[in-house]
Amino acid sequence: MGYKISSFGLGYVGLCSALCFADKNFTSIGVDIDQEKVQTIIEGRSPIYEPSLHTLLQECLDRGTFRCSTNPCEAVMESDISFITVGTPGLPNGSIDLTYIRQVARDIGKALKEKSSYHLVVVKSTVPPGTTEKKIKPILETHSGKRCGTDFDLCINPEFLREGSALHDTLNPDRIVIGEYDKKSGDILEALYRDFYKEKTPPIVRTNLPTAELIKYASNAFLAAKISFINTIANICEKTPGVDITTIAKVMGLDRRISPHFLNAGLGYGGSCFPKDLKALIAYSKKLSYTPELLQAVENINETQPYKAVLLCKNLLSDLKNKKIAILGLAFKPNTDDMREARSIPIINQLLKEGANVTAYDPAALENAKFIFKNKIEYASSAADCIKNADCGILVTEWKEFKKLTPEDFIQNMKQSILIDGRRIYNPEEFGKKLKFAAIGLGS
Ligand code: UGA
Repeated sequence: MGYKISSFGLGYVGLCSALCFADKNFTSIGVDIDQEKVQTIIEGRSPIYEPSLHTLLQECLDRGTFRCSTNPCEAVMESDISFITVGTPGLPNGSIDLTYIRQVARDIGKALKEKSSYHLVVVKSTVPPGTTEKKIKPILETHSGKRCGTDFDLCINPEFLREGSALHDTLNPDRIVIGEYDKKSGDILEALYRDFYKEKTPPIVRTNLPTAELIKYASNAFLAAKISFINTIANICEKTPGVDITTIAKVMGLDRRISPHFLNAGLGYGGSCFPKDLKALIAYSKKLSYTPELLQAVENINETQPYKAVLLCKNLLSDLKNKKIAILGLAFKPNTDDMREARSIPIINQLLKEGANVTAYDPAALENAKFIFKNKIEYASSAADCIKNADCGILVTEWKEFKKLTPEDFIQNMKQSILIDGRRIYNPEEFGKKLKFAAIGLGS
């Protein structure tokens, strides 16, 4: 077997999966239109922050199993299977922008025109139901002058990896979903994955194209709903003296029907996926004349949740004007430098609006944050530097290094020892005894 792979679009999904194929000795070619990004990768530097990615990239380049180019035609010619892994960003009306995916489909179509041997095209980007069949397929057929199912094949294969643990997730998925245009398309993609995972092959589920497309949206929407659900209970806990959401979530999670995952109460979800995918699913559903009220509530709860941090801060400080507020963590989650839809953004904007002086620190996202907040806030070079002389600290992203901070660290550095735990990483008994302490979901 030993299929040769090309991946179009070298973001998180494209680069991580291309390198995982290369790591398992498949010939893997990465393609991107961004010349600078391609050059960075060729030089062995990862354009994205992702644990272990840099080392894996260098290993695969040295071994010669991975290469990178801006030439789509060559990549199609020299591979058997092309994965489309470009972004599908959200539009202001909630629906998604298919510009990049259309462009890649055109490029692959043109290359297929010249190719006489077999080729399978696999859409990995997140797209609404119907997109692969009604939009991608016609583009591929028009530009190749060939017929899908006869001259080339087509699948949709949604991706479930998380930023920050992208390699681990790619190598250890819970399931693989193959939406197939026809049986032959699905057989080939299944054979590729069986060859890739060998005895560790997870359950492979084969469906038609729109079902696979909707599985991805339904999965992300469900996880987002779990988060908004637990945040709702957390908000009730805060008004109930003596009750702590972490105990409630822990016990709920012991019920196997519920599971402990994605039950961490906090300041809401961010990132490039949940907010965008939820909006897209709502927009898709409305187009079909169905108003998905549950999904709208999930979104509304998530919009207001970050302001809880500001409210807790005001409860303890009363007036924020000219107070120094230290923000610990800016990225939308730990182990990434990604600021997209990060909850730190509405929190900081609100603090500024209320007249506070904000200083922030993040182990990885400072440079990206500077593009957003510019000189409206101060940037610290460490957690200790950030909380120095602060009137209140707000823990926004639960980086491992913040978990090591002790009550003494805050007492010794801060002007007033006031701390808001927005992600529930500190022990309330220990911190509550020594500091003025408030936390999401902690009844007081
Ligand atoms: C998410 C999904 O988890 C992946 O399965 C999916 O492949 C990906 O979107 C995608 O569609 O590409 P990701 O956005 O990288 O992955 O990150 P998550 O770990 O899911 O976290 C998303 C947000 O939820 C973060 O802001 C995180 O802080 C928040 N979260 C997560 C909570 O507030 N509580 C939790 O219990 C879990």
